[in-house]
Amino acid sequence: MQIDPHSPIGVFDSGVGGLTVVRALMERLPFENIVYFGDTARVPYGVKSVETISHYTTQIAEFLLEKQVKLLIIACNTMASVAAQQVHALSPVPVLDVIDAGAAGAVAATRNKQVGIIGTPTTINSNAYAQAIHCRDPEVRLYSQACALFVPLVEEGWLEHPVTRLTAQDYLKPVLAQNVDTLVLGCTHYPLLIPLLQDVAGPGVRLIDSAQAMGERTAALLKEKGISNPNREKPRYDYFVTDVPVRFQTIGERFLGRTLPNVHVVKW
Ligand code: DGL
Repeated sequence: MQIDPHSPIGVFDSGVGGLTVVRALMERLPFENIVYFGDTARVPYGVKSVETISHYTTQIAEFLLEKQVKLLIIACNTMASVAAQQVHALSPVPVLDVIDAGAAGAVAATRNKQVGIIGTPTTINSNAYAQAIHCRDPEVRLYSQACALFVPLVEEGWLEHPVTRLTAQDYLKPVLAQNVDTLVLGCTHYPLLIPLLQDVAGPGVRLIDSAQAMGERTAALLKEKGISNPNREKPRYDYFVTDVPVRFQTIGERFLGRTLPNVHVVKW
């Protein structure tokens, strides 16, 4: 298949969390057009069954492929942990996901080989991070914790709220008790909580934000495939959501540090 380098990059998540990947792409690849999909009507995914998540994932990937994207980025650990293979199988364009990037970052960062992983219940139960990390370094000891409440708290915009702080203290306690020196944010919603999580974890723990690493990975892939956008003009960004985007817009604008002009509601 001939891929048009002018086509946008398709990025998707269950809600606002994937914007952490979009921000990394905007910074690293300032001339690339981006189409973002956030399934705001059905978030959170991380507490749903594998069958349901797989079905939603296929639906979103097909939607973005119809928009003629040149690359698909699964900016959601939950979808990547249970449905990455399926997206690879249906996509005629390359596919990247956040899990591999997070695993590589953790292995590179840890000194004492004690690594904590936090994510949604689905991501933690899938064992996808353990596999990705142990492929790289079987000696790393992993301590994982499902944090089901973080996604709704982030979607609510409670990024510095006392309730979020108490929740974080409770979730992180058993992981921090293992002397981890590295903590993988195994959910793209969590980078929005970085100031709070760093405060709770303490300065000795390095937080790994897989969204950050995606900027580099995407740049490398576009170059390798020869599909970087040759235009040096202001790119177009479009955001598709499945529910009235009031909070999406507020949280998104705060996070991206820019306005979200082209937000469209998709009715399924
Ligand atoms: N941002 C998604 C992830 O990385 C959140 C999943 C959810 O909707 O629960 O896992």
